[in-house]
Amino acid sequence: MNTDPCTYVIFGATGNLARLKLMPGFYHLELEKKLPEGTRILAVGRRPWDRATWLAEVKALLLEQANTPMDEAVFNRFAERLDYHRGDLDQPECYKSLAETLNAQPRFSRNMAFYLAIGPSDFGNVIESLSQVELLNEEYGWRRVVIEKPFGYDLESAQALQKRLSRYLSEDQIYRIDHYLGKGMVQNVLVFRFANVMLEPLWNRNYIDHVQITHSEELGIGSRGEYYDSAGAMRDMLQSHLLQLLTLVAMEPPVSMDAESLRDEKVKVLKSIRPIPKSAVHAHAFRGQYARGNIEGQKVGGYLEEANIPADSSTETYAAMKLLIDNWRWRGVPFYLRTGKRMAKGQSSISICFRHPPFQFFRDTHVQCMTPNWILLGIQPEECIRIEMTVKEPGLEMRTRTTSLDASFRNPDERRVDAYEDLLLDVMKGDRSLFLRFDEVEYAWRIVDPILQNWVTERDYIATYPAGSWGPEESRRLFEKEDQYWRSSLMPECQP
Ligand code: BG6
Repeated sequence: MNTDPCTYVIFGATGNLARLKLMPGFYHLELEKKLPEGTRILAVGRRPWDRATWLAEVKALLLEQANTPMDEAVFNRFAERLDYHRGDLDQPECYKSLAETLNAQPRFSRNMAFYLAIGPSDFGNVIESLSQVELLNEEYGWRRVVIEKPFGYDLESAQALQKRLSRYLSEDQIYRIDHYLGKGMVQNVLVFRFANVMLEPLWNRNYIDHVQITHSEELGIGSRGEYYDSAGAMRDMLQSHLLQLLTLVAMEPPVSMDAESLRDEKVKVLKSIRPIPKSAVHAHAFRGQYARGNIEGQKVGGYLEEANIPADSSTETYAAMKLLIDNWRWRGVPFYLRTGKRMAKGQSSISICFRHPPFQFFRDTHVQCMTPNWILLGIQPEECIRIEMTVKEPGLEMRTRTTSLDASFRNPDERRVDAYEDLLLDVMKGDRSLFLRFDEVEYAWRIVDPILQNWVTERDYIATYPAGSWGPEESRRLFEKEDQYWRSSLMPECQP
């Protein structure tokens, strides 16, 4: 696919996402010489800055990032592409002057990608305003819009937002981003499954006992109190990133890797997830909120002590759910998903637990830890594929132990590419395979909506867990079997 030169217009350019991910992402693409000639990046922000101030800001934020090697020549080349447009997104003048700038200056390519790195409540208004000044008109070049999550607040609002956007944009102009799909190890799930013939015969209900998908963070909510309190862990992580991971683990091989075939298969998985009736939410979902605790030996406050959080908030910072996929391959195999802020360790992983062998021949020996086979896919910080097996310990006695077969994903000298780099480039290529189609978003909301509705009616009670722990113990109640437990380590571990 060709990477077309384009003008990237970043709304919310002075916000966290743009500073921490988008601008460093573009800089790395410059470093790798991936940005086509003629690519420009126009930051739109409310702050009273001019181009020179913006360049200084960008340089400072790149220098702050320890993983960015600053090369003056590269930065100067990069700086040539940067511009700043001051404007208030609530004011129509902002869009008029933006259109004048983009249309009048030959510096800007006719292909335009509008990146909405802004609060979800503003998505609709910004698109409507862009259309009013004819910036979405494709007569002289393509127009694409990148929309951050969350797409809606629930099923109904997502459908309303979609209806509004589709008045001005066709589906192939909309790039709903889920940055997890840009992570190298997440893409590797597909390669691991579909480029290796050994796994496929085992990848089903006959051999797999259950699947776990975990995303845990040591960090709290930082300065995002206002957003986070209205979202909670279910909307912030589970409805989007973790359900996407589930689809990649569970999907059938697509006809090809093109965007539609891939997304067709993901949608089939989401459609096959057994709906959770409101009366069964208790058995399928669990939520908790962090209380005071310790992270790496430092005392940290509880969620209710964070800035901009109401004292009686019952927003969950930990959410877990059990899902069942009613299809030929997965019927009866529970998928357990969990996420939390201020947990013992920051990591994302997929853990696949296999069934026990039909006979435990070695049961009578001094077995220290009789574990089933696991396949562990570490997504971050460790990127790994590990298969756990039982082997005989060296020595005269028949003792067994667990060992793991490691397939390293990256050599130490290979650079870790940030998810956003990949996705920013895909927008320029017009490749939507790693972006969400609306029906994916819609089915994802259908899955979590009953849980969210139930939690609203049970506002007064929420379990708590000390910051720095693995979340509330009671979330064990989701497990179907006594010997299932939350897998927290990617190294061999005994069942607690
Ligand atoms: C974002 C969530 O989408 O993903 C954040 O809004 C979360 O709350 C983040 O911290 C996690 O992403 P990553 O790439 O750091 O795992």
